[in-house]
Amino acid sequence: MTVTKKVLVAGASGYLGRYAVKEFKERGYSVRALVRNPDKIKTAGPHGEPAIYDIIDDLIIGDVTNPESIKGLCEGVDIVFSSLGLTSPDPTLTSFDVDHLGNGRILEQAIRENVSRFIYVSVFNQDKMAEIPSIKAHELFVADLKKSGLSWAVIRPNGYFSDMGRFFSMAQSGHIFMVGEGEKKINPVHGADLAKVCADAVEGECREIAIGGPDIYTFREVMELAFHTCGKTPWITPLPMWLAEGGLMVTGLFNRNLADLLSFAVEALKFDHIAPACGIRHLKDFFTELAANI
Ligand SMILES: NC(=O)c1ccc[n+]([C@@H]2O[C@H](COP(=O)([O-])OP(=O)(O)OC[C@H]3O[C@@H](n4cnc5c(N)ncnc54)[C@H](OP(=O)(O)O)[C@@H]3O)[C@@H](O)[C@H]2O)c1
Repeated sequence: MTVTKKVLVAGASGYLGRYAVKEFKERGYSVRALVRNPDKIKTAGPHGEPAIYDIIDDLIIGDVTNPESIKGLCEGVDIVFSSLGLTSPDPTLTSFDVDHLGNGRILEQAIRENVSRFIYVSVFNQDKMAEIPSIKAHELFVADLKKSGLSWAVIRPNGYFSDMGRFFSMAQSGHIFMVGEGEKKINPVHGADLAKVCADAVEGECREIAIGGPDIYTFREVMELAFHTCGKTPWITPLPMWLAEGGLMVTGLFNRNLADLLSFAVEALKFDHIAPACGIRHLKDFFTELAANI
């Protein structure tokens, strides 16, 4: 008799989390989802990520910054998958609170329940951005995970298609301010392709897995593709790096949390991000789908 394994997906309402839920379900796992707002997962997300409310097996409504709300999270769970993280500015919470301490609370429960594997989603090129607060928070958690005694895998993805979707939204508005010259390269990855790699990571030794998508673009090419797909003439204004960094410093005087998150976006434009290629989905098709839904 085969026993169905239970996986907890933390961050299940997010871009990657929804694809992960779908992928684990398709592979026959029983899926428990941790979400803050169950209504959010009843409909598809803004970048085409699937609605998952009807396919999950059980739901925990909780916030990792509130330990009471996530009691019993890992009871009966075999595998924890976490793509839970702070990806947009919050007036009261920092990456440290969510990515490090929040995931840490899940880890404590996973250790207590003796789960067989913990898969965590961090970022690619972390060594080149080690001083950025959101990267520090991810890596503090990675360090805790590695010494936890649990079997682990750390996924290190390049930029997601959802992130490239920001360029599409700006192109739609008719104009993009580009930090730097946009000549650095990236191979972004679709959430569905990435979710397959995440689910594969259940098996095998403890390891870090870097992953990007099948096509390499410069950041300028991504922006131009976005303009062309929504039928507009590219209008891109480069901003010198020093000006963007000065802007960050000023922002930091008024809103530290916003400046910390934006510092990642600025730092990431300073070098190439070419991760081992994987997946079959193309950015051009993703933008075409976004354009069809305008
Ligand atoms: N986007 C990229 O290009 C990229 C690239 C590499 C790595 N990453 C990393 O990959 C991870 C997932 O990214 P994503 O784009 O899928 O992010 P996302 O769409 O913003 O999803 C983040 C998830 O975390 C949840 N969450 C945040 N704070 C929470 C809290 N206090 N308690 C409970 N849940 C909470 C969110 O819930 P709500 O829906 O309620 O907000 C959401 O489900 C992040 O850690 C990110 O840093 C992202």
